[in-house]
Amino acid sequence: MAGGIDVRVLDDAATIAQEAAGLFAALLRDCPAAVLGLATGSTPELTYAEMGRLHRDEGLSFAQARAFNLDEYLGLDGDHDQSFRYFMQKHLFDHIDIRPWNTFIFDGMARDPQAECEAFEAKIRAVGGVDLWLLGLGGNGHIAFNEPGSASDSRSRVVTPHPETVAANSRHFADPSEVPAQGLSVGVGTIMDGRKIVLIATGAHKAEAVARAVQGPRTPACPASLLQDHAACTFMLDRAAARGLSA
Ligand code: F6R
Repeated sequence: MAGGIDVRVLDDAATIAQEAAGLFAALLRDCPAAVLGLATGSTPELTYAEMGRLHRDEGLSFAQARAFNLDEYLGLDGDHDQSFRYFMQKHLFDHIDIRPWNTFIFDGMARDPQAECEAFEAKIRAVGGVDLWLLGLGGNGHIAFNEPGSASDSRSRVVTPHPETVAANSRHFADPSEVPAQGLSVGVGTIMDGRKIVLIATGAHKAEAVARAVQGPRTPACPASLLQDHAACTFMLDRAAARGLSA
């Protein structure tokens, strides 16, 4: 089904964070045991800060929620300060009342990574699917670690991030050579199965990818463009990220 992407251009990153966190708050108030899909990266940091504020100041509870993350580095333990598990603890989980056993992130040290991916998909199915995915966007159109070429029906698997992604992520590492060469990632199909999707993107460096995703052809060459086929996908953008869109 062709849903098309709903685009909202907002004033700034803080407003995007409020609106995106507000979607999760509304979901949780309606359905306290909701299944949340979460991203790492620089873009969602403010959204997680706002979720923490909503918990602290407004009593928003995550006590019954389940949370699944999009991806993890292969070869990093959850205690490693560059692992996505560590990021989630630092930016969100340590600031809300979500139960640790309800937070699901690929085990980067899994002895059998493919089995880990299959088990992850099974866990998502077992809880009835993801209600709302929060996504960021790579400059090359990637979502999660689904790099150009990822099929619309792809599932959780071991992936090799594009050199551009490795270079972008190396800013978080002391030495670029420390960036793991592989990751574990949900697939485009796993994301498409979610009931709702909100993608957040800020800054001029995302403008080209935003334009290709929203107004370009639906193609695995730009995995985010495959979101056009989702029935309930919203992009929340600042003006810089939206500047490549034609009216
Ligand atoms: C990470 C993820 C990635 C990021 C993307 C943008 O879990 O899903 O696809 O969303 O690389 O990262 P930032 O927000 O750092 O620009």
